[in-house]
Amino acid sequence: MSNDNIVWHPHNIKKLDRANQKKQKPCLLWFTGLSGSGKSTLAGALEEKLFALNRHVYLLDGDNVRHGLNRDLGFTDADRVENIRRIGEASKLFVDAGLIVLSAFISPFREDREMVRGLFEESEFIEVFMDASLETCERRDPKGLYKKARKGEIKHFTGIDSPYESPESPEITINPDEADFDQCVEQVMEYLRSHNIL
Ligand code: ADX
Repeated sequence: MSNDNIVWHPHNIKKLDRANQKKQKPCLLWFTGLSGSGKSTLAGALEEKLFALNRHVYLLDGDNVRHGLNRDLGFTDADRVENIRRIGEASKLFVDAGLIVLSAFISPFREDREMVRGLFEESEFIEVFMDASLETCERRDPKGLYKKARKGEIKHFTGIDSPYESPESPEITINPDEADFDQCVEQVMEYLRSHNIL
C-alpha cells in the first residue's frame, strides 16, 4: 500500500520526555524460543521484579495478544510474519511511550526478529533467546500441544512440522535445561544493571 499522501506529524512531547517523566530508560526485551521454553514465565517474573522496583513495565504475550489484536491470525508462515510485524510495531509504540516492554513470542523466523530489531535504537532492543531443547519443551508440554501436534491434530506446530530458527547473536541466551529459574531471572537482571537500564 502506498503512503504517499500520509505525512508524519512531529509532536512536541518526545520519547525522551516521557522516559524522563518515568525516570527510566525505555527498552524492549524480546523473548524468543520454542513453545514451552519458558518465555512467558520468565517474562512474567521479570515484569513483577521490575514493577516492584517502581519501573513502568508492560508485558506482551503471544497467547494473550492472539486473543485480541491478532485474533485474525493463525500459524501459517505468512500469519506468523504478520503476527511479529504487528507486535514489533506495538512494542515500538510502548517503548516510545517510555515503557520497559517485555514481548514473549515464539517468533520463529530470524528475518522477522531482525526486522523488529531494525525498528529500534541499538541499545533499546534486547533479544533473549530461550535455548531450551525440543526434548525438554516436549517433555514439559504444559498445554498438551506437542502431544496433539505429534498426533497430527495441530498443523504447522513449531519444532514439529514448522521450523524454528535460533538467533545467531542474541544479547542474552538463557539455558533453562541447565540453570534454575531464579538464576535465569538474575541473568537478565544483571544484564539490565550492567547496561545502565536499571
Ligand atoms: S509465533 O510463532 O507467531 O511467534 P506466538 O508466540 O504468537 O507464535 O504463539 C504461540 C503460542 O500459540 C504457543 O505458545 C501455543 O500455546 C499456541 N499455538 C497454537 N498453535 C500453535 C502452532 N501451530 N505452533 C506454535 N504454537 C501454537
